[in-house]
Amino acid sequence: MPGLSQQLLRRKPIAPPRGDHEGPELARSLGTFSLMMFGVGATVGTGIFFVLQEAVPDAGPAVVVSFVVAGIAAGLSALCYAELASSIPVSGSTYSFTYHSMGELMAMVIAACVLLEYGVAASAVAVGWSGYFNELLDSTIGVALPDALSYSPVPYEDNVTGLVNLPAVVLVLLCTVLLVRGASESARVNSIMVLVKLGVLMLFVVVALTAFEADRFDGFFASGSAGISAAAGTIFFSFIGLDAVSTAGEEVRDPQRALPRAIMGALAIVVAVYLLVAFAGVGSQPLAEFSSDEQQSAGLSVILENITGSSVPGTIVAAGAVISIFSVTLVTLYGQTRILFAMGRDRMLPDRFAAVSSRTLTPTFNTVVVGIVVALIAGFVPADYLWDTVSIGTLVAFSVVAISILILRRTQPDLERPFRVPGYPVTPVLTIAACAYVLSGLAAVTWLIFGTWLAVVLVFYAVWGRHHSRLQTGEHEGASL
Ligand code: ALA
Repeated sequence: MPGLSQQLLRRKPIAPPRGDHEGPELARSLGTFSLMMFGVGATVGTGIFFVLQEAVPDAGPAVVVSFVVAGIAAGLSALCYAELASSIPVSGSTYSFTYHSMGELMAMVIAACVLLEYGVAASAVAVGWSGYFNELLDSTIGVALPDALSYSPVPYEDNVTGLVNLPAVVLVLLCTVLLVRGASESARVNSIMVLVKLGVLMLFVVVALTAFEADRFDGFFASGSAGISAAAGTIFFSFIGLDAVSTAGEEVRDPQRALPRAIMGALAIVVAVYLLVAFAGVGSQPLAEFSSDEQQSAGLSVILENITGSSVPGTIVAAGAVISIFSVTLVTLYGQTRILFAMGRDRMLPDRFAAVSSRTLTPTFNTVVVGIVVALIAGFVPADYLWDTVSIGTLVAFSVVAISILILRRTQPDLERPFRVPGYPVTPVLTIAACAYVLSGLAAVTWLIFGTWLAVVLVFYAVWGRHHSRLQTGEHEGASL
């Protein structure tokens, strides 16, 4: 029997993920393009459609620089994910990387973080989607769902309350059905939605450029570096999602090459599109018209209405936002199921979470459980209230991935690494510093919620996980300390 400290620190050996697993396996059906679209699908969502209204008042025209700064921060962690995904191409992403580098206890801590990053984020995104969907219904056909069916019963700030947030529940259940049907079917639907949303953003750029005036960039640095960094903090949210690519490690053909290419490709697409949107948006209307007040909250579509005086292009962009958020929910749910799959296979959760249906080659039980839990949160909790806990989970996970690179380069120097972060060790160290900087700004109450959640997960590990872990039962030969 290993002692407690040996249990907590035992590391999973790096080995092909499937060797010791019985029953059907996940299908290797995804190529680099689908995977890249996963990255763009999870990333381009609520943020870019609405963030200019919030960020421009902080940074002025230098918001373009804020986009570059936020893109660099996201790019640094994307590089780290690319190295680990290429050398350990398994489903569990951050959870699995940590299990290999820092051991079982830290893997559970990270599992708690990614449950926030993916599970809670999927609920919160679905709640946001419900609001935009209702607005779109109202502006196109003049009908919107009654409050009783559009809001959760729990009060949040000045929001009205209702019985259930029905559109959010329906969205999550639709995504669940798609995910149960198959990863490649989900990837196909996601790719179509991604192409639509990129098309809609390009439409915005083209229309905005027709009203472009260069003198709107006068006084470029007037808001100073404080304004630029405040805006970069807000914008960072828009870049979250690229890491979802690394949860698909076991469903990809030639994963060691496809994963880093997809992460880098998605990063390049996202940065290029965001910079174009920011540049065209700022040049298209006077600074004073960017405002985060309620009337302006429809973001890019309001800018187009201001420019053209017509509601048509604005409505098209609003429809694009609704489609965008659909695909963020889909990929975020997908990522959550694959992390739980890896945990089930390690028996850190009941192994039903790793059971794959022989018909659809997807983890059906796991997907249905995730779908129901996320739908319940989305339907009955004002999930926008949980956004900051999503940020904590994401930032801790990003930092731990960078730390894992530092550890694995020392402990496993001979591991095959088809992609290596350029500028090692500066890149992972800078990633940790950037995450620590953003984390330091989060409110005490957010840390309290996070700490409570972590305690719940660790209690589960103490009473269940550590006794059932495959490393405990000796099924992973060669566990290392
Ligand atoms: N990056 C994602 C979004 O902007 C989370 O919606």
